Formats: sequence, C-alpha cells, structure tokens
Amino acid sequence: MGTRAATTRRSFLAVAGVAAAGLAVDAYAGHRPQRAVGRLVRTAGGLQERPRDGAREGSRPDSRPAAVRLLAAPATVDLGGRTVSTWTFNGELPGPELRLRVGEVLRARLENRLPAATTVHWHGIALDNRMDGVPGLTQSAVAPGQGFDYEFSVPDPGTYFYHPHVGLQIERGLYGPLVVEDPGEVVRYDHEAVLILDDWTDGVGPSPEAILANLQRGGMRHAGQAGGTHHGHHGAGAAATFDPTSPLGADAGDVRHPLYLVNGRSPRSPTVLRGRPGERIRIRIVNTAADTAFRLAVGGHRLKVTHADGFPIRPVTGDALLIAMGERYDVQVELGDGVFPLVALAEGKDAQAFAVVRTSLGATPRANVRPAELDRWVVTVADLDAAGAVDLGRRPVSRTHRLVLDGNMATYRWTINGHAHHGAAPLAARQGERVRLVFENRSAMFHPMHLHGHTFQVRRAGERRPGPRKDTIIVRPLERVTVEFDADNPGRWMLHCHNAYHQAGGMMTTLAYEP
Ligand code: C2O
Ligand code: CU
Repeated sequence: MGTRAATTRRSFLAVAGVAAAGLAVDAYAGHRPQRAVGRLVRTAGGLQERPRDGAREGSRPDSRPAAVRLLAAPATVDLGGRTVSTWTFNGELPGPELRLRVGEVLRARLENRLPAATTVHWHGIALDNRMDGVPGLTQSAVAPGQGFDYEFSVPDPGTYFYHPHVGLQIERGLYGPLVVEDPGEVVRYDHEAVLILDDWTDGVGPSPEAILANLQRGGMRHAGQAGGTHHGHHGAGAAATFDPTSPLGADAGDVRHPLYLVNGRSPRSPTVLRGRPGERIRIRIVNTAADTAFRLAVGGHRLKVTHADGFPIRPVTGDALLIAMGERYDVQVELGDGVFPLVALAEGKDAQAFAVVRTSLGATPRANVRPAELDRWVVTVADLDAAGAVDLGRRPVSRTHRLVLDGNMATYRWTINGHAHHGAAPLAARQGERVRLVFENRSAMFHPMHLHGHTFQVRRAGERRPGPRKDTIIVRPLERVTVEFDADNPGRWMLHCHNAYHQAGGMMTTLAYEP
C-alpha cells in the first residue's frame, strides 16, 4: 500500500487502466473521463476507492481495502442537451464502474439518501445469497438515512451491472456497470468500452409511478406520451424508415419513452467511442431499460459476439444484435476508418439510442440514421452456443418446474402459474440437483426472465448443440423455452420478468433451497 500512496495521480490512473485489462485507457477516454477505470482500483483484497489522502492510507487498522461507496441520492444530471433531476449513485449516470478480477471480493457501502428505502442487487453474479439485495427476501430494505455493507466474492468473469431491487427505481438513474475480469481471457482486443442502454422518462415525461398507474388503470399504451412529451423531441426518434416488424413479435413494449440513452447520453450529445482504424474494440453492452429491448448495430461494421450474460460463447459474427432488458453481450468490432453511428433501435417503438464510433476527423452522423446492418442478420440467442469451458454438459434432470407466463394489457396483472407477486410457494430444489425450468409464454408480449444467483444453460428441443449460459432469457409470445441449471448456490432467489413494469405488475416468483 505504501508504494501506491507515493504514486502520483497521473501515473496511478495509467497503472490502474493498464492493470484493468491491458488497455490504453487514455486513448479511449471517450465520453466520460470522470468515471474512467482509474477511479477504482483493484488490489489483492478486492476493489477500493482511490484514497483522497494517500498518506493516511497505510494506517487502516485492519489493512483491508476500503469499501467502494455507493451514495444513492437525488441528483441533477445532464442527459446531453437536457438536464433532469433524478436519482443516481454518486451523482453519476451511469453510476461508477466497478471492476475487479474473478475470485476477488467486492466491498461496497450503500448509503441511502433517497426519500425512499432501497437496496443494491448485483445482477447476474452467483453471489452469497445474503448479499443479493432483494428486500423482504435476502435483507431488509435500507431506510432513508441508513446504510448497508455489501461484501461478496465474484466467482465468474463477465459483464454485469447493479441496480436497486425496489419498485421502479431502476427506471430512474440508479444503475452502473460491474465488470469481472478474467486473467485467462482469450479474446484479444485493443480497447474496451462499456455501454449501458436505457429508456428514459424521469424528469422528461411522466414519472415511472405515473406510467405504472396509467397502465394499471386501463392498459393505455405508450403511457410515456401521456405527459405531453413525445419521442423524437431531439429529432432522434423520428426515423421515418421505422419498420414495425420485430423479432420479438408485434407488441415489443408497453411504454414509449421520451428518450433512449447510451451511457446516460441522449442522441443530441452522444457518447463517443474513439480508436484507430484497424484496432479491435471490445464493447460490453448492458440493457438496463425498464421496458425496451434494443437491436444494436454499428454502421459499416459487423459484430463478433463473444459473450452472453458474461459467459463465453462460440463467437458468432452478425450484423446486429438483439438485447433485452437485463441481458448483457460482449461484442468485438474491428474499427474502420471514419465516423460511424452506433444505433440501438428500440424494438417496436419507432425510436433509437445513439452513440458515435470515431476513428478519424469528419462530420458526426445524424442521430436518426438507420444503418443497413439493423435489417440484415440480427443475432439472437438462438444463434449462440456455450463455449466448451462453460458448457454445463448433460446429466439427469432431478426436477422440472413449469412456469406459465401470462397477463394482459387490460388488467396489467402479470402472472407466473396464475400467481402474481409472491402469491405462490417458492420453487423447490435440493442442493446438487440439476433443475430444469420450462417457460411457457401464453401472453402476447415477450418476457426477459431473469434468475438470481445462477447461470442456467439454454436447451433446445431436438438439438445437441450446447445452448448458451445465461441468467436472463427472452421468452417470446406463445413460445416455450427450456433451461437447466445446477442447484449449487443455496438461498432464496428471485425469478422474475426483467420488464420493470411487468415485475411491478406481479411477474415474479422465488426459488429456494437449503445447503
Ligand atoms: Cu436485474 Cu432481479 O434483477
Ligand atoms: Cu414481462
């Protein structure tokens, strides 16, 4: 620790950046240098905040690294041409990037200065159940003015994110990326970027609570327009070439949001990714939206998809990629020479999020450009197979749970096996079992179903191909999807739709088993 205390800020940032992933972070400062990798430091003991006063660092009595501080509080943020009051972590949108190595311990101190109780859930991490951040299930909600210390190790490398697990708080600005690095990473790249996709209404359109109330009153579609705002306010959503067909079916969302963001930036003042022609960039993409699946493409480029929900797949190269709420994908892009649009089409909503990939001088593309790649081969989970190292393999299934997903816009009550909220007994399992889940969607909307604490494997009828490992899986209208997991992480775990409004409307259950 003493050596670090003597390091200057500049070299410290450089060291932290290089240590993070062997990347030249400086060359890739891109959009928001204030939340670059160098803000948080990995140490042997975990993740820690850069000491404000280095000289005092050596005097910590227990010599354990300080916890990362996550201050949940109201804040004013600039979405790019539009300033809004919302709720964030540490005043930033997205919240601070947390980055550590597989097997390390994350220590995070949540301080709640919101006017409401909250928690932090570490989405996708197979962590200690007590740290999972689900109020009423794994902890008590943290009251205003109170705090909570999260401490857990991260067993699997990959791209994750964190968000509260209370009401519609994820629909505000309370989210941030969590990256677990793999020292044995085989994917080679020159730069790395994390992009968080979001749909946004808070402070621009009606509040999330007003939207939900509106939906529950009678299923009014596109409640985001009810407050007198409309998409395309910035000229970004007004793509005249809108195509209503979606790989998710005709009804791909309930709420038309006024804005769609990449890393907290609206199309008017977009996130910019920089690099040099010929370089390979790894983009970690997180969809934290409440009600929006995105179809992402980079104009003039193909996407080599390498990871799904953090876990490696056999790489697939396509033109675009479908990403539902709660899903994460890592893609590799070999940069061309020029200035290119990165577009995340909001499925079924006639609007898009927008960022820029820039390797040379030149004019920025129009924010409503629709790259041809969006209408070519859209990679979906059906195209993906687990990489050999993470294939769960076949073994006898000890028990099968059938989960019928239903609901409708008229009542806005969303159910699993006929029950809403926690009306059903928890799904049972025994430690060590291979468990199968069969999702049957009887509704007219897709549901991205997310299981906490585990990463299941997708099984396809009549196919021997190993499906991808996932923690969030799209179940399309009238579709049946089978997944399997090993019950190797006892506790009480949520299983729910990651559409925030469907979840609030009841589409959730739990899985529980003892050690
Ligand atoms: Cu990201 Cu239970 O959720
Ligand atoms: Cu749903």
